[in-house]
Amino acid sequence: MAASRLDRLVARRGAYTRSQARELIRAGRVSVNGKRTTSADTKADEDSDIIAVDGKALSSEKYVYIMLNKPQGVISATEDKKDKTVLDIIDKKYKVCRLFPVGRLDKDTEGLVLLTNDGAFAHNSLSPKKHVEKRYIAYVTGDVNEETIKLFGQGIELKDFTTKPSTLIIKERGPDYTTAEIVISEGKFHQIKRMFEAVGCKIIYLKRTAFGEIELDGSLKSGEYRPLKDSELEYVKRISQGE
Ligand code: URA
Repeated sequence: MAASRLDRLVARRGAYTRSQARELIRAGRVSVNGKRTTSADTKADEDSDIIAVDGKALSSEKYVYIMLNKPQGVISATEDKKDKTVLDIIDKKYKVCRLFPVGRLDKDTEGLVLLTNDGAFAHNSLSPKKHVEKRYIAYVTGDVNEETIKLFGQGIELKDFTTKPSTLIIKERGPDYTTAEIVISEGKFHQIKRMFEAVGCKIIYLKRTAFGEIELDGSLKSGEYRPLKDSELEYVKRISQGE
């Protein structure tokens, strides 16, 4: 018996937030094995109980969301003939879940990659209309200065498009390179590298540290991963629902 709180199961299976799930239960719209309940802390068996909202069973097939700290040299794809992919470095038990990476990091970029089988989440979080911000830390050679910050804030003209305004913060100036934080809400091919090239600079190291409200867990070493926590799943649900 895999017993779980009802509000948790309703939220997870029905793509509701926890508070929406509690509201549905309180309103008497949720039943467990045909019996209506209004108590959110009712325990239900994750594997065998039939949970329904308004008489319609919620699928027991769960979406899976994993946070991976992608190492350099691994590609953000589901399969590749030559290189190791993000799916090659996670446990084989996830094979049945048909996970895919949400967006792409370059082979030499490391950091936060979300893996999921939730197409709505992937679609919405990558949609330019949703403006989901992605944060990076970069080591940059060349002159990164106040003018660069201003240009990034205005949008950088690249060969094929002009970027949306982005935030550039200089963190540290070293003898060999500048450490900078960049926040962009798009994700075009090599975007950050191309933005720096356009202002005469070069990225020598790039790491993604946040995807929307989800921060890369600092305890994950390169190549390690973990399922998202409840607080992170609340954010995922909001995005999946198109908020
Ligand atoms: N911008 C890049 O140039 N590369 C990445 O991997 C991500 C953003």
